[in-house]
Amino acid sequence: MERTWIIDSVDKIGQQVRLNGWVHIRRDMGKLIFIDLRDKTAICQVVFLPNHQEALQEAVKLRSEFVVEIVGQVNARPKKQVNKNLATGTIEIEALELKILNEAKTPPFEITEDTKKVNEELRLQYRYLDLRTERMKKNIELRHRVIHYMRNYLTSRRFTEVQTPILSKSTPEGARDYLVPSRIHQGKFFALPQSPQQYKQLLMVAGIERYFQIAPCFRDENARADRSPGEFYQLDLEMSFVVQEDILQLAEDLYTSMITELFPEKHLTQTPWPRFSHKEALEKYGADKFDIRKDKNDPNELGFAWVLDFPLFTEQTEEDFFHGAGEKWAPSHHMFTAPRVEDIPLLETDPGKVRAYQHDMVLNGLEVGGGSVRIHDAKLQEKIFDLIGFTDRQKQMFAHMLEAFTYGVPPHGGIAPGIDRLVHILAGEDAIRDVIAFPLTNDARDPLMEAPSEVAEEQLDELGITIKNQK
Ligand code: AMO
Repeated sequence: MERTWIIDSVDKIGQQVRLNGWVHIRRDMGKLIFIDLRDKTAICQVVFLPNHQEALQEAVKLRSEFVVEIVGQVNARPKKQVNKNLATGTIEIEALELKILNEAKTPPFEITEDTKKVNEELRLQYRYLDLRTERMKKNIELRHRVIHYMRNYLTSRRFTEVQTPILSKSTPEGARDYLVPSRIHQGKFFALPQSPQQYKQLLMVAGIERYFQIAPCFRDENARADRSPGEFYQLDLEMSFVVQEDILQLAEDLYTSMITELFPEKHLTQTPWPRFSHKEALEKYGADKFDIRKDKNDPNELGFAWVLDFPLFTEQTEEDFFHGAGEKWAPSHHMFTAPRVEDIPLLETDPGKVRAYQHDMVLNGLEVGGGSVRIHDAKLQEKIFDLIGFTDRQKQMFAHMLEAFTYGVPPHGGIAPGIDRLVHILAGEDAIRDVIAFPLTNDARDPLMEAPSEVAEEQLDELGITIKNQK
């Protein structure tokens, strides 16, 4: 007999079905045994009756989280026993056969309850159990539906999903790189991409014209409530032959239509999304990320806004990637962002006043996306490198971009909304980690896999690496 998903058994009253799943709860009533059976789709009540002795005898052995196969008869519940809180509350399965497929130890925390109050280290150590809980399962499903919508939306608008390399070269986005030593080229390192920025621009040179990727990004940063240390995902996209308005409209329409379709209970504070220049945002809210919601206690209100006209440069700080160059300016977004055309002459006279074609997407007080129109002129790109004080060696690191730009580069631009951050707001979660299947802890560890870990001496030898300061 083919397996029936629990949720589909609701439509099979009077029929026999084969169900698979985990024992969620077991209630032994002496002469009969009830279990709540759980699979990916739902939970349903199964009853073991004395008239099916073999199954009943086997059911005595059942404990929480045992893995089972049940053949049963789908019965309608009498009106009085209908449970309106359960998706399968109109039916009950009368068990005819039971096969225990696997036993299970008692979990270290209750899976039938929300694990919000359970010690997070323990939850992450047993993440595969934590993910069995209703809230966590819902979050993972919600994330999937959001990504699925994005893929469909963009595919239907002639975007192509392209996977760019993970073993790559440092693309400075302002954070520290994760480095991977090369065995074949001892003493040399790959860097995990902080974002696919350079590749997506090269894909525009390649004539892909419309690219997107559900892109893993790696940044060695400290954690915050809205920031995962280590890795996160972006909906990275890039378009050719566009101006800033085209990018804003596409991103806004994608998000607005997704929310209308997937989250009908939610509503936007304002449509079209209000737009603020960076200067206006600072004047009005004192920050470049801000909350425009009318009712901050309404979990279904979403306050999207755009911030535009950022200054192209900020003053360099000690911590800047460019530190050491001894120059005044650092790019406020990244070094490929184009200055506004009318401000280009100011690059010579007053770089601090130059505004950029940069756009930040803000939602409920968080920055949920950032992007820009890019420079597509090698000379202008070199000028920016000079202004941020690049040495010849630093310029050499980007020579491939400048060279690519000499082979017919279209005007282009894009954006990269953060997926974890968006899903975390849509799910109404406090911690961004609760919308990530296997996140790192705040201090960048994985208690389940015990990563990072030491490696065998031979592995280090092969790489030509000795550890200087063992902590
Ligand atoms: P940027 O660095 O602004 O731009 O990143 C874009 C968006 O990515 C998300 N994000 C994060 N989410 C979770 N944890 C983090 N540590 C984290 N860091 C960033 C945010 C942010 O708005 N290549 C450019 C994009 C472009 O120009 O097209 C880039 O990466 O939501």
